[in-house]
Amino acid sequence: MNIALIGLGAVNRGFLEILRDKGESLKAQYGFAPRIVAIATRTRGCLVAPDGMDPAWLLAAQDLRSEGAARGCETGWDALRIARSAPADVVVEATPTDLTSAQPALDHCRAAIAGGKHLVLANKGPIALAYDELRRAAAQAGVLLRFEATVMAGTPSLRLGMQALAGCAIRSARGILNGTTNYMLTQMENGVSYDAVLAEAQRLGYAEADPTADVDGWDAAGKAIILAAVLFNVRLTLDQMQVTGIRALTLQDIESARAAGERWKLIAEVTPEGGKVAPVRIALSHPLAGVAGTTNAVTFNTDLMGDITLIGAGAGRLQTGFGILSDLLDIHHSRMPI
Ligand code: HSE
Repeated sequence: MNIALIGLGAVNRGFLEILRDKGESLKAQYGFAPRIVAIATRTRGCLVAPDGMDPAWLLAAQDLRSEGAARGCETGWDALRIARSAPADVVVEATPTDLTSAQPALDHCRAAIAGGKHLVLANKGPIALAYDELRRAAAQAGVLLRFEATVMAGTPSLRLGMQALAGCAIRSARGILNGTTNYMLTQMENGVSYDAVLAEAQRLGYAEADPTADVDGWDAAGKAIILAAVLFNVRLTLDQMQVTGIRALTLQDIESARAAGERWKLIAEVTPEGGKVAPVRIALSHPLAGVAGTTNAVTFNTDLMGDITLIGAGAGRLQTGFGILSDLLDIHHSRMPI
């Protein structure tokens, strides 16, 4: 499988680390032998190499452009041209999310599909804002569209809802959908200040490029919109949702909750009628109260199975990189003769 990576931030670096460290076992176990034939970055140039680039080298390169040129890579490409015309079977879009315009990722996605390439996204913008357009275009072009990493990193929330629970009607999804804020709330309970813990979340690669999306609840709302689209076939927009983040919560609020045997969590909830995101004080005995750090959780309320709850990583380099890998393996398996 020839792969073009758009973006070299935490997500695609996490994915490259997995390829570097598990390449042999992925090949032995699944016959999966990916080749990174192109990479587009915003500030470090773009490289194309039809014979493939070593993940370990890409991760270690100090100066991608000049080291790539020295290794014989082509350097005259840009992200749009790579998405459309690089010699790749699949494009992985993992640039920073913009939930207002979805750009420039949406144009990368359009170009990839127009170029006849399967598309894997970690970027939430194009799915939250243009799911119908991309789905239609992908179907017309005969390519696959996958985006497991957009919700709860590599924890298989979309695959659970779309595949494992197919046949159930899912009536609602409710839970903790943002790793950064859950990590912040957990650390603030340990007495760390809001600013210090936000800086740490950014350093560890949990937070979005613009962390206001995390702390003001928009990231969780974007994920709720994606869940509504795939679980209920309902299209929501951010302005239809009530969204409140954790910015106003103080150490004192956290202390008063603790004194009452409660804990603050940023809870997202979505039904076919709409969605909301808000900090909620929940009892320590509530199942979501024990979901700490960057761990996320979602409960699907279904007609046939009652409540099904999935708990797992919601953010992180390797964890989101795994979301990319799981989609690529899915595409790999769909392309194999049965
Ligand atoms: N910033 C996001 C979060 C990353 O903290 O949950 C994963 O989507």
